[in-house]
Amino acid sequence: MDSILVRGNGPLNGQIPIAGAKNACLTLMPATLLTDEPLTLTNAPRLSDIRTMTQLLGSLGAEVASLQGGQVLALSSHQIASQKADYEIVRKMRASILVLGPLLARFGHAEVSLPGGCAIGARPVDLHLKALEAMGADLDLRDGYVHAKAPGGLKGAVFDFPVVSVGATENALMAATLAKGTTVLKNAAREPEIVDLARCLRRMGAQIEGEGTSTITIQGVDRLGGATHPVVTDRIELGTYMLAPAICGGEVELLGGRIELLGAFCEKLDEAGISVEETAAGLKVSRKNGRIRAVDVVTEPFPGFPTDLQAQMMALLCTAEGTSILEEKIFENRFMHAPELSRMGARIEVHGGHATVHGVDKLRGAPVMATDLRASVSLILAALAAEGETVVSRVYHLDRGYERVEEKLSACGALIERIEG
Ligand code: EPZ
Repeated sequence: MDSILVRGNGPLNGQIPIAGAKNACLTLMPATLLTDEPLTLTNAPRLSDIRTMTQLLGSLGAEVASLQGGQVLALSSHQIASQKADYEIVRKMRASILVLGPLLARFGHAEVSLPGGCAIGARPVDLHLKALEAMGADLDLRDGYVHAKAPGGLKGAVFDFPVVSVGATENALMAATLAKGTTVLKNAAREPEIVDLARCLRRMGAQIEGEGTSTITIQGVDRLGGATHPVVTDRIELGTYMLAPAICGGEVELLGGRIELLGAFCEKLDEAGISVEETAAGLKVSRKNGRIRAVDVVTEPFPGFPTDLQAQMMALLCTAEGTSILEEKIFENRFMHAPELSRMGARIEVHGGHATVHGVDKLRGAPVMATDLRASVSLILAALAAEGETVVSRVYHLDRGYERVEEKLSACGALIERIEG
C-alpha cells in the first residue's frame, strides 16, 4: 500500500487545474444503460472509482472506452447481456447502486447487490427503493440483492423524499425519464451533480424541469438517444485545493473553479478570513491577512456546507485563532480524521455529531493513517502547514477521489511525494 510523504514548506503559489466531478461522473456513466446509442463523456476524471464503474458496466455487457488518457469516456449499451450487478464489484463502490434505476427503466428487471455500508456510515438505500416502488417497481430483497421487476414498465409518480438523498434522487431521476407519464420528485437533492445529470439526460432527449430546486418534474419518453456531455467541474476537489493556500499562506489560482458550485462553503471561507477572487480562468484564493479565524460549521445538503468538505475544513481550523465547532449532520461517523489530526498536535474533542476544535499555533508532522477518502486529503492539507515530516499511509483511499495530488500540489511549491508500498 502506497504512502505519501509531506514536509511542511511554507506558502504555496501557482495554479491547480480542477478535474471533472467524480460524483457527477459516477451517475452520468450508468445513464448509458438508458439508451442503445453512444454516450460520450468529456472532462472525465482519472480515478479508481471511475475504473470500478467501468468494470461494473462492462460486467453488464456495456462497452466503455477510455480515450485521451481517461479524460474521454465513450460508452455504449447496445448489447446489454446481463442485468445483474454482482456483489464482488458493488462492494468496492457504493455508487454501483446507481445502475438499478436505469436497468429497471430500460429492461424491466434488474438484480443489484445491496451495497454495504462504509467507514463513514451505514449508507442505507431504502430511499432509492421506495422511490422506484412508487413508480410501480416490484422489489424483492433476497440473498443480499435487490431483485427488481417492472414488467409493464415504470409509471410516473409523485414521490416526496423524507430525507434529501443525492443518490436516491439520481436513481429516481434516471428511471423516470423512461417511465410512462409524469414523475414529480419532491424534496429532491439540489447538488450541482444532479443538475449536471439532468443536463446530460436532456441532451439524450429526456424531458426534465426543475433540476437544482427541491422539485424536479420528468415527463417520461419512449426512448432516449445518445449524446456528448462534459462532466461538471468537481466542487469537492475545488474546495479541497482552495484550502491549501488558506492553510499554508500564499496565493493559488484554481483553474475551472466557479463560485456557484460552492454554496455556503465560500461564505465560511470569507468568515474565516480567506479571500476568494473570481478570475477569467477560475478562482484565486489567499488569506486576507494574518491568522485564520475560528468559525462554526454545520454540514447540510446543497447549497449548505458540503459534508465532503468537513474533514478538510477541520484541518484548516486546527490552527485558527479561537475555538470552532463542527456539526456533521449528514453521516453518523465522519470524524475519523480527528484522532489522526490530534496526532499532529491538534486539540479536538468529538462528542457524537459535534467536534470542537481549539486552534493551536502550529501542527507538527507525524505518521498518520487515512481512514476514508476525504479524511485522507484532510491529513495532507494539515501536513502541508505542519512543522516537519508527515507520512500518510493507506492512500488508496485518496486515489479514489483525487487524481495526481502530488503533482498538483508540488507545482505550487509543496514538498510532497508518493512512497510506493
Ligand atoms: C453522495 O452519496 C456522494 N457520493 C457522497 O460523497 C456525499 O457525501 C453524499 O452524496 C452527500 O452529499 C456520490 O455521489 C457517489 P445521500 P449518497 O444519499 O448519495 C441517508 C464522497 O466523499 N440515506 O445524499 O450515498 C444517508 O445515510 C462521497 O465523494 C438514507 O437514509 O448520499 C445519509 O445520512 C461520500 N437512505 C443521507 O441520507 C437512502 O436510501 C445523505 O445520503 C439514501 C441515503
